Amino acid sequence: MIIGTGHSVPDRVLTNFDLEKIVNTSDEWIVERTGIHKRHIKAPEEKTSDFCLNASLQALAEADIAASDLDLIIIGTVTGDMCFPATAVFVQYRLGAKRAAAMDISAACSGFLYGLTIADSMIAAGKYRHILVIGAESLSSITDWEDRNTCVLFGDGAGAVIMAPSDGERGVLSTFLGADGRLADLLWCPGGGAIHPPTHETVDKKLHYLKMAGQEVFLHAVKAMGESAERALEGAGLNPADIDLMIPHQANLRIIDATTRRLGMPKEKVFINIDRYGNTSSASLPIALNEARRMGRLKAGMTCLMVVFGGGFTWASAVVQF
Ligand code: ACO
Repeated sequence: MIIGTGHSVPDRVLTNFDLEKIVNTSDEWIVERTGIHKRHIKAPEEKTSDFCLNASLQALAEADIAASDLDLIIIGTVTGDMCFPATAVFVQYRLGAKRAAAMDISAACSGFLYGLTIADSMIAAGKYRHILVIGAESLSSITDWEDRNTCVLFGDGAGAVIMAPSDGERGVLSTFLGADGRLADLLWCPGGGAIHPPTHETVDKKLHYLKMAGQEVFLHAVKAMGESAERALEGAGLNPADIDLMIPHQANLRIIDATTRRLGMPKEKVFINIDRYGNTSSASLPIALNEARRMGRLKAGMTCLMVVFGGGFTWASAVVQF
């Protein structure tokens, strides 16, 4: 079960009006097509691990455990501090979580729920008691700030949860994970790996930036988010009517609306913060989860459905009783 949550974003805010000065776009277009009004973008000296650390300290404080109680740290990220080692080891060191193993998961936007699923399974197997699961990104570091198709969409930040063994009713009721690698080239960052290691040519060709076929991704996202949510509900033996709050991936307000309609979920049961953060990829769900709890939208005893879709393609969902 989740015993603590936290989130952290950079102080620097980039509004749609700021973007109007950078690329040929408008506040009206961005709001109408995406629902985004502003996003937080890191300063050059800030690191993904900084946001992880802040979010983790909040989650540890709420969970009322010490960093030294952690057995494992998992970070879902595609924009960690370095190619390697894992950003999780920097967080482990800075937290002083001396007993904890540490690893990153590369599942794009789905990284947090992939991590939550692994953590839940390891705790259920009796291997570990306390696991810190983080979703964190500095997407601004792989954003092409000359490409209006993508640069208006993304933001930076991190969200964290502490997971512990269930105490009766509370806990993860079901999870569902999926992937389809045939469609990888619709949303990827092709440069920087072993296929295209950094050269002057890869930089000139802008291979180190995120590339997205927006409309295709949109269609797949709507389908996969709906199906994935249904699979998690089935796994938990629940109907949409049993859910108190749905937290969908904050990629596009229209994708959220379509998923909400498909599930027949009333709008007031859907948590939305894309207007203030944009799409923060793997950080999107844990940031929203923490905000929902702090705002009193998600209280003890409530059942929450989380669902996400991202590059890979990957998708994931979970039903959690708080
Ligand atoms: N400002 C103004 N006009 C723009 C902008 C912009 N920022 N961006 C694109 N346009 C133009 C296009 O050039 C196009 O013009 P044209 O008709 O003259 O060619 C027109 O607007 C329509 O473009 P579309 O791409 O068809 O716009 P669409 O309605 O599909 O919205 C968007 C684009 C917002 C990207 C949408 O497709 C989307 O949200 N896709 C899914 C994103 C997503 O879910 N990603 C998943 C996870 S991300 C991750 O894993 C990191």
